[in-house]
Amino acid sequence: MRSSPTLVLQLLAIASLARANDADRHLAKRQTTTPPPPAAPATTSPAAAAASGTVVAGVTIPPLDQITLGMPAGPTPVATRTASPGAAAPIASAPPLPNPAWVFEQGQWPTMDKPIDLSFQQDKLASWMKELDGYDIPNIPPTVDGTCVGDPTAAADAEVRGWWTCGGYTRDTDITACPTKYNWGVSFDDGPAPYTPNLLNFLQEKNITATFFVVGSRVISFPDILINEYMAGHEIAVHTWSHPHLTTLSNEQIVAELGWTRLAIQSVLGVTPTTMRPPYGDIDDRVRAISLAMGLIPVIWTRTPAGVSFDTFDWEVAGGIVEGPASYAAFQNILGNASELDSGFLVLQHDLYEITVDLSMGYTIKSALEHNPPFTLQSAGRCNNIPQTNLYVESNQNKSFPYPSPPASLANSSSANSGSSSPEKGKTAQQEASDTSDAQGMRCSWTFVAGMLALAASVLVA
Ligand SMILES: *[C@@H]1O[C@H](CO)[C@@H](O)[C@H](O)[C@H]1NC(C)=O
Ligand SMILES: *[C@@H]1O[C@H](CO)[C@@H](O)[C@H](O)[C@H]1NC(C)=O
Ligand SMILES: *[C@@H]1O[C@H](CO)[C@@H](O)[C@H](O)[C@H]1NC(C)=O
Ligand SMILES: *[C@@H]1O[C@H](CO)[C@@H](O)[C@H](O)[C@H]1NC(C)=O
Repeated sequence: MRSSPTLVLQLLAIASLARANDADRHLAKRQTTTPPPPAAPATTSPAAAAASGTVVAGVTIPPLDQITLGMPAGPTPVATRTASPGAAAPIASAPPLPNPAWVFEQGQWPTMDKPIDLSFQQDKLASWMKELDGYDIPNIPPTVDGTCVGDPTAAADAEVRGWWTCGGYTRDTDITACPTKYNWGVSFDDGPAPYTPNLLNFLQEKNITATFFVVGSRVISFPDILINEYMAGHEIAVHTWSHPHLTTLSNEQIVAELGWTRLAIQSVLGVTPTTMRPPYGDIDDRVRAISLAMGLIPVIWTRTPAGVSFDTFDWEVAGGIVEGPASYAAFQNILGNASELDSGFLVLQHDLYEITVDLSMGYTIKSALEHNPPFTLQSAGRCNNIPQTNLYVESNQNKSFPYPSPPASLANSSSANSGSSSPEKGKTAQQEASDTSDAQGMRCSWTFVAGMLALAASVLVA
């Protein structure tokens, strides 16, 4: 795997450049408020950027205005597994790391970063579908494309559906914040990826734990990095196989996305997560019920009643939609809003790109650490006082975690519910046009980038 880091970087660079054009087309209406993406890579040479950057955890982070699409790539960190096969788990009563260590076998996994072929290893899907028995999975039709503009009919019904995407509707079974004021729940989505090792060194240096919502296709591409995340005390959670909008999928496709990712994590670490995050936060009561039936509690990043999303929008820099300074200015709004909340909050960041890792290490987390009054930065489970043992099936000691089977709020047996769950905790967050644009842009970009990563990964593991 380490023999071809250049290939990965080249593919990532190509993906990023193509992504900029893609974003141009789909996010044209946002361009009135944001500068156009740079036409060409920065004129700064790597040496010049390094000369003017600051060193954080041994990595040279460029000045903010040089963190932009096309910035010179820094060295790819070495992703050596730090624990031996069979090493004791960092979680009490969890099994040791698999021994021998998991190795990729051609033909044993669905095609990376593609919708899962439901005829692939049908016996597995059939057994996972049985986990839904006894649950009332609401008969909500799939959305057209997981966005509000793309499906006005579903958007109009969002409150009843409990659809987070359009209006931020949540349920009591979702984890959407840290309960304690000034607690900052640290989360990174979409890895593990080539620059994640830099982030792990940084988090260790700062004594910060994070929750990594990992993509199954990346897990089998970078298993050693996943092991390092887990062994360092970070929390590992499911983020699907191919990063789709889950509300667009059939029940079987949702089960396959969650099931294969769960299995990938279990194969590499020996433990099976009990938490998940829907890509783009795209969840409704059908997706929720399926996740809970599979023993996975949904965890979303915080969105205030006024619609302020605790998404750092770091991905917009990697996508060439904005440059570092604009992204950081938006992030300052998050910090401002954070101080006004009565509770703590969960923040969304990404470790898929060098750019987003650099932003986190050099700017966002750094500024969080310098904030006054101080924030307590920790993983989502810790800030919610969930014992680490609860986070994995194998170590969980709490029979009512994730929830009694089936959970009261979603089971048939709940007399108040007839088909869909009650919207007891739905929030009437204002639906802003920008939310929709963001969702659109993310969809287009991630599909493409995911494809490039799949290509890189397939070459690397082949
Ligand atoms: C839930 O409903 C399904 C279909 O209506 C049924 O097969 C199942 O037995 C019910 N489960 C419970 C716990 O009532
Ligand atoms: C690291 O953080 C943990 C949990 O917040 C704390 O108990 C511990 O004392 C910290 N260690 C250091 C060296 O700061
Ligand atoms: C909260 O966020 C909104 C939207 O980004 C911003 O306009 C507002 O200034 C922020 N509030 C504070 C106190 O920073
Ligand atoms: C077990 O989990 C449930 C559901 O999260 C929680 O309400 C309860 O407090 C937990 N019990 C213990 C002993 O941790």
